[in-house]
Amino acid sequence: MPPITCIEDLRRIYERRVPRMFYDYAESGSWTEKTFRENTSDFDDIYLRQRVAVDMTGRSTATQMIGEDVSMPVALAPVGLTGMQDADGEIKAARAAEKFGVPFTLSTMSICSIEDVAEHTTKPYWFQVYTLRDEDFMRRLFARAKDAGCSTIVITVDLQLMGQRHKDIKNGLSAPPKLTPKSVANMMTKVQWGLGMLGTKRRFFGNIVGHAKGVDDASSLSSWTAQAFDQSLNWEQIAKFRKMWDGKFIIKGILDAEDARQALNVGADAIIVSNHGGRQLDSALSSIRALPAILDAVGDQIEVHIDSGIRSGQDVLKAMAMGAKGTYIGRAFVYGLGAMGEAGVTKALEVIHKELDLSMALCGRRNINDLDRDILLIPEGFEGHWQP
Ligand SMILES: Cc1cc2nc3c(=O)[nH]c(=O)nc-3n(C[C@H](O)[C@H](O)[C@H](O)COP(=O)(O)O)c2cc1C
Repeated sequence: MPPITCIEDLRRIYERRVPRMFYDYAESGSWTEKTFRENTSDFDDIYLRQRVAVDMTGRSTATQMIGEDVSMPVALAPVGLTGMQDADGEIKAARAAEKFGVPFTLSTMSICSIEDVAEHTTKPYWFQVYTLRDEDFMRRLFARAKDAGCSTIVITVDLQLMGQRHKDIKNGLSAPPKLTPKSVANMMTKVQWGLGMLGTKRRFFGNIVGHAKGVDDASSLSSWTAQAFDQSLNWEQIAKFRKMWDGKFIIKGILDAEDARQALNVGADAIIVSNHGGRQLDSALSSIRALPAILDAVGDQIEVHIDSGIRSGQDVLKAMAMGAKGTYIGRAFVYGLGAMGEAGVTKALEVIHKELDLSMALCGRRNINDLDRDILLIPEGFEGHWQP
């Protein structure tokens, strides 16, 4: 196999190794995928300022995210069904993150359960919750996360209902996969993936099945999911969730300065500027374009993190130089996981770290904590001039 030198290499291997249904699930956005595409292309529109004859020895990408030491400001984003991309995927990804010194965020919709991931890791990880109608279930989720030693809750507020991805409907996406002639034919070509899945018991939503009232198997799960999300969510409710957790609390899914101010009022420790990787509101702004206005509104009062579209260390550098205090990767680590398991997640982190370190040096900077917009060439009107 030729050497893997970039995230795109991992994506190509991932595409070959994982059943189509799960590849499509990750590699798509809602409706026309405009926002999904622009999340990456808008990063490309920003240039870096090359500087020369500057001492670039003794560089460091180490910093902190919400007070936790990180080897670089790149956390693993919560990704549902990670354990379907590769057997025991959440455990493998969490281990790779732990060894690399970056945070891992477990999704509510994971295959491996909160307890299972805690058992197979040694450091506290972060747990993501959705805003669900069943308050009792929410309380139990928080309690389970506390018992498992999680340090931080990431609450996702941009999914009161689910965006539509055409491919998931057409593929009949489910966990475990529904056995149709088409899906079986495709899975039979994914030998390594199949052997991994046959060798594990972790094939259902580990945090839900057996924990949510009336959800004891996969069939009852789909009806639970359909009514579980709280369409009537408001900021008072989010404030209530905040009070249920006495640790660090991050609000994920902010794309508007007004909402960023609201997040500040409920006592969050950080917000994540995110459009859910282009999976929710199609035609929403890319995260990197939405970032400057949010930083202007609340950047001096709260840590502002960002995800959606990050595929390289250069993207991380651009976001950090713009003023973000941390970034997250979703698909970039999923590609690695699907391609090569735990080693693939490590590879993804290594690739991003190298690109970040090298690019920072060539911009004449030595420390990730000393970045500013001076190293960026941002096209005029990048944030957009919108009519009032
Ligand atoms: C396959 C997939 C599943 C996801 N599942 C969740 C989830 O369960 N909870 C959540 O808050 N975000 C979820 N997200 C969104 C990610 O946390 C993150 O916001 C997004 O992946 C960032 O964009 P990127 O993939 O371009 O890096 C998911 C994203 C993907 C691609």
